[in-house]
Amino acid sequence: LKKVQLFENLNVEQLQRIMSIARKQWFTAGTVLFQEKDFGAAFYILLKGSIKIYTRSTSGDEKVLSLLQSGESFGELSLLDGRPRSASAQTLEDSTLLVISGNDFHELLREQFEITRHIMAQLCRRLRDTNQHVYDLTFVDSRTRVLKNVILLANRHGSRAGNIITIKMPLNYDELAQMAGVAKQELSQVLRDLEDRHILTFSPNAYKLDLARLNG
Ligand code: CMP
Repeated sequence: LKKVQLFENLNVEQLQRIMSIARKQWFTAGTVLFQEKDFGAAFYILLKGSIKIYTRSTSGDEKVLSLLQSGESFGELSLLDGRPRSASAQTLEDSTLLVISGNDFHELLREQFEITRHIMAQLCRRLRDTNQHVYDLTFVDSRTRVLKNVILLANRHGSRAGNIITIKMPLNYDELAQMAGVAKQELSQVLRDLEDRHILTFSPNAYKLDLARLNG
């Protein structure tokens, strides 16, 4: 549990309290945990796997809002403001989650300020990310958006060894393009260009980003 950002500063007693109210659940890849506009009934902590947070237009087009990896949590928004789910959530890999009911979540926030502080910090971070995304969509050209997105994924989800960052990538091309807000064809062109310059190399389910070449 120490790996979970939310629990970083908690003592053993506090962690035991969480284990007493949380249910551990396993989901296969592709499971929709909840849909946008559903009633929010639970809070989720991802122990293993990855989650896609996304929204859909009325015509069915999808937009990936965020990719969450192990240690991250979600589902707090609708519990806090009592309104429907703001987005949908789906497992991208087989995933293990801790699920906490809405009532227990509220009790936890009342009891443990460290968790409340962390949830507030997470909301701040998501608002900043959203502002950055709006900025990028408004002011930044699409090639740069793709590159920024690759760097963001590398920073958040990559593991670094020297100059090489390996990004385990459960998103497919469509999802990557939606995340960067570019057409799929443009995404392919930029990725091919980065590959030609040996900045990015691809292996099944992973990208390797060479920082020396990126900065060179
Ligand atoms: P909730 O609205 O209950 O259900 C969807 C969840 O997705 C939401 O809580 C947040 O935890 C998460 N979420 C919504 N929008 C974003 C976003 N832009 N970036 C990251 N996570 C988000």
